[in-house]
Amino acid sequence: MVTVQGARALVFGGSGQVGAAVIPRLLEAGWDVDALSREGQAPAPGLRWLRGGFEAMPALAREYGAVISCGPLDHFARWYTDGGVDAPIVVAFGSTSLTVKLGSVDDAERALAARLGAAEDALFACARGRGADAVVLRPTLVYGAGRDRTLSRIAAMARRTGMFPLPRGATGLRQPVHVDDLAATAVAALGARGAGGGAYDLPGGETLSYRDMVARVLAVLEPPARLVELPAPVFSLLAAAFRSSGRLQGFGPAAQARLRQDLVFDVAPAAAALGHAPRAFRPVAGMFLPG
Ligand SMILES: NC(=O)c1ccc[n+]([C@@H]2O[C@H](COP(=O)([O-])OP(=O)(O)OC[C@H]3O[C@@H](n4cnc5c(N)ncnc54)[C@H](OP(=O)(O)O)[C@@H]3O)[C@@H](O)[C@H]2O)c1
Repeated sequence: MVTVQGARALVFGGSGQVGAAVIPRLLEAGWDVDALSREGQAPAPGLRWLRGGFEAMPALAREYGAVISCGPLDHFARWYTDGGVDAPIVVAFGSTSLTVKLGSVDDAERALAARLGAAEDALFACARGRGADAVVLRPTLVYGAGRDRTLSRIAAMARRTGMFPLPRGATGLRQPVHVDDLAATAVAALGARGAGGGAYDLPGGETLSYRDMVARVLAVLEPPARLVELPAPVFSLLAAAFRSSGRLQGFGPAAQARLRQDLVFDVAPAAAALGHAPRAFRPVAGMFLPG
């Protein structure tokens, strides 16, 4: 690991599932950290929490050794391009949704993809103009801290009911990526100063079908839960009924169509440039429990 002494990093989204894994790695690498949150947070040696967000920015130093964004990329890019602070390197999390949702049947998903694309473009252009390197990290499906919106939600529902339904044919490939592997790569990216920056997909270390991914999660719950595979039209009706009663979020028609779609990304560019070395998907129950 590259260590630094006396340099201060500015972190956005440090209270989130990825940011909470990034901060300890920064401290361990010798960085002092200013982290923003709209909520009160507990300080730690080397870590100073500043109260605020993109809508109400607290006073910041004019210059930092690095800026890391683990919050919404569009807000961050707007703040950075509107002035932000100076730093030789800026590392920001984006999402593979940029490419996955570009051709979605859902208007909101296409709009999200467009926002992510515009934010990346603006960030790269602004960083170039300021002589800084910008690195955008695009994770696939994130898990590991019990706070993700896919596998932890599935696990929570399965714990309540003892089962989880999926439509038959949920064979689309996935590459779940652990929050700690993302954090390690984000901190390693700070060492890419002077390399010109770029955008990197960050998949997990194993490619498996959606069905098998969910089956592995259900198998490690205590007690294990049952995977129930339903004919696709039955699943679709059930999901619509649960959504309209407010008992299910997501799993709309676009998300259901994606269950059959392979969402696979090449790990090689991030491995070569940033040393991204994600673990295989070996879940344990605690990974899906908050805290
Ligand atoms: N979760 C996934 O599966 C996934 C997949 C692909 C990409 N990503 C990307 O990875 C990054 C980290 O994701 P995550 O799941 O760790 O996020 P998260 O848990 O939802 O946390 C987001 C963080 O952003 C901060 N934030 C949100 N809105 C803000 C605002 N208006 N002003 C200032 N801060 C704001 C929040 O800080 P406070 O509430 O403390 O202010 C929070 O700590 C994000 O860019 C996300 O898009 C996530």
